[in-house]
Amino acid sequence: MTDIKELLLSRIRDVADYPEPGVMFKDITPLLADPAAFTALTDAFAEIAERTGATKVVGLEARGFILGAPVAVRAGLGFIPVRKAGKLPGATLSQSYDLEYGSAEIEIHAEDLSADDRVLIVDDVLATGGTAEAAIQLIHRAGAEVSGVAILMELTFLSGRPRLDSALRGAPVESLLTI
Ligand code: PRP
Ligand code: MG
Repeated sequence: MTDIKELLLSRIRDVADYPEPGVMFKDITPLLADPAAFTALTDAFAEIAERTGATKVVGLEARGFILGAPVAVRAGLGFIPVRKAGKLPGATLSQSYDLEYGSAEIEIHAEDLSADDRVLIVDDVLATGGTAEAAIQLIHRAGAEVSGVAILMELTFLSGRPRLDSALRGAPVESLLTI
């Protein structure tokens, strides 16, 4: 394992049975509190933005906001929030997606993207892929392209990657850590 992967992994805390019994929660707050680790993560994501030719960074509410905003600043790009439904005041595009029980809906301000944009999606965890797949669909519906999906932790046993690969038009899914 490379030094940066070891550093990031060492700053993620496993919390058993949270938020419900049987779930192992991946807590990134120790990573956020460590300036060396947070800077290394931001730099790694900014390198992906530059390498994939991103023109904008989209962060997925809520933890993708914390990770994505400094990436946008570091890469010299604009930041666009994809929010849970009902939080954006302007004209939005909405996309619903299935959860284990029920469904959820996310939104984006349609005016924030144009046909010239290539968007890097940033989030902390790729699990089933439902959230990121819905974000990809929103970006495509807004007329823009996805340059890539940058993820801190991919939970491979939940098989999110094949789902994203079929929604993406050849853009890469880049996860720094696989679990
Ligand atoms: C978590 C995580 C990812 C998503 C991954 O967000 O931060 O965004 O789930 O799951 P999926 O691949 O199965 O869609 P969640 O909405 O639970 O919480 P948050 O608002 O704290 O980010
Ligand atoms: Mg989230």
